[in-house]
Amino acid sequence: MQALLMFLVVNGFILVLCSLIAISSYFLKQSGRVLLFINENEAGEADCGMTLFEVLAQKDVYLPAACGGKGTCGRCLVKCRQGGGPLTPMERILLDEASLAGGFRLACQIKVREDLKVELPPELLTAKKFAVRLEKAEFAGEGIRVLQFYILNNQLIEFKSGQYVQVYRQLPHERIVRAYSISSDAKARNNFSLDIQYVAGGLMSTWLHQIEPGTELEISGPYGDMALEDESENSPVILVAGGVGLAPMRSLIAELSGRQSPPPVWLFWGTRHRARFYAEDELIKLTQENSGWFHFFPALSGDLIEEGWTGDRGFIHLSLQKHLPEMPTARAFICGPGPMMKAVTLVLEQKGLSPQRIKADPFDF
Ligand SMILES: Cc1cc2nc3c(=O)[nH]c(=O)nc-3n(C[C@H](O)[C@H](O)[C@H](O)COP(=O)(O)OP(=O)(O)OC[C@H]3O[C@@H](n4cnc5c(N)ncnc54)[C@H](O)[C@@H]3O)c2cc1C
Ligand code: FES
Repeated sequence: MQALLMFLVVNGFILVLCSLIAISSYFLKQSGRVLLFINENEAGEADCGMTLFEVLAQKDVYLPAACGGKGTCGRCLVKCRQGGGPLTPMERILLDEASLAGGFRLACQIKVREDLKVELPPELLTAKKFAVRLEKAEFAGEGIRVLQFYILNNQLIEFKSGQYVQVYRQLPHERIVRAYSISSDAKARNNFSLDIQYVAGGLMSTWLHQIEPGTELEISGPYGDMALEDESENSPVILVAGGVGLAPMRSLIAELSGRQSPPPVWLFWGTRHRARFYAEDELIKLTQENSGWFHFFPALSGDLIEEGWTGDRGFIHLSLQKHLPEMPTARAFICGPGPMMKAVTLVLEQKGLSPQRIKADPFDF
């Protein structure tokens, strides 16, 4: 009996010791190299101590990251099959139960400490880094600058209208990155445009409002699933934009207007004041020129008295409520600030659209 007790004590002690060694080696492993697998394929070694987000960038896999890796935007999603370590508090806040149950993690929150197996959607593996040069810049509307970039080094970008890129800026002590929707026609492969709203005190937007033509910078992309998926589908398209949320809509409209027989398009565009509208001429021209497929409803939500204004007053979801017929077969794309998106989604659902027919890109920061 005494021998059995001794046996159990010794073995228990060994078990506890082994567990402690395993746990501490996991948490203390800050140096050395581990193996990374992406979609079952070995993607080479990675340095311990870096974040998975940084490791993937080293391997030319550029994840979407509106917050630049700070753990606040929830966009750098990866499915982690092995080796992600414990969830961080930010992941518990940003990821919903379904994402957590599906094994999703935020790459910027995972510290690499052991071999990792991750799964990424194939389209993310095609996002690339590009060196670009600012060719042309013009102010359009209050606080909006439209920038046209040329892609250097004979690279070509293939994007779908509605998608966005990430722009990088090197500051003395950090490199920041922000997302911007492409506003130009997706047919062009060596150039593209971005519409930038000036944000007082903003690190990226104020800089993009200052840079001169000839300035070279780095971007990555394309990203986002706010795109027309099936070219053969001809069901009505509802576009709803808040302010500079018009940017991806301009790209979508360019694509749709280029079709031989475009589907009916309903554009709802809201800003606070009339001076904030830009590119209005191209939209009005479309309503005048086209044979009834393009319907345009601008709305102003500010309290300024605007001479001669004949459009709607109030928030843009009220314009949808007023003008949009029941349209269960339509597809909808929404872009702008978060609260607007929620109100608009609700109205679209009341008009018969299922959530699967609604795509949205919140311009959150
Ligand atoms: C998918 C996606 C697409 C986007 N597309 C566009 C686009 O086409 N055009 C565009 O102009 N922006 C777009 N944005 C927003 C853009 O990524 C930046 O968030 C924005 O330019 C502000 O960045 P910043 O570095 O200038 O400001 P930051 O330095 O990040 O912010 C400085 C301060 O201003 C506040 N702030 C930031 N933005 C705003 C704002 N808009 N209004 C009020 N306060 C703000 C912040 O909370 C912070 O306190 C997009 C965002 C996403 C996620
Ligand atoms: S990059 Fe924004 S949460 Fe990871």
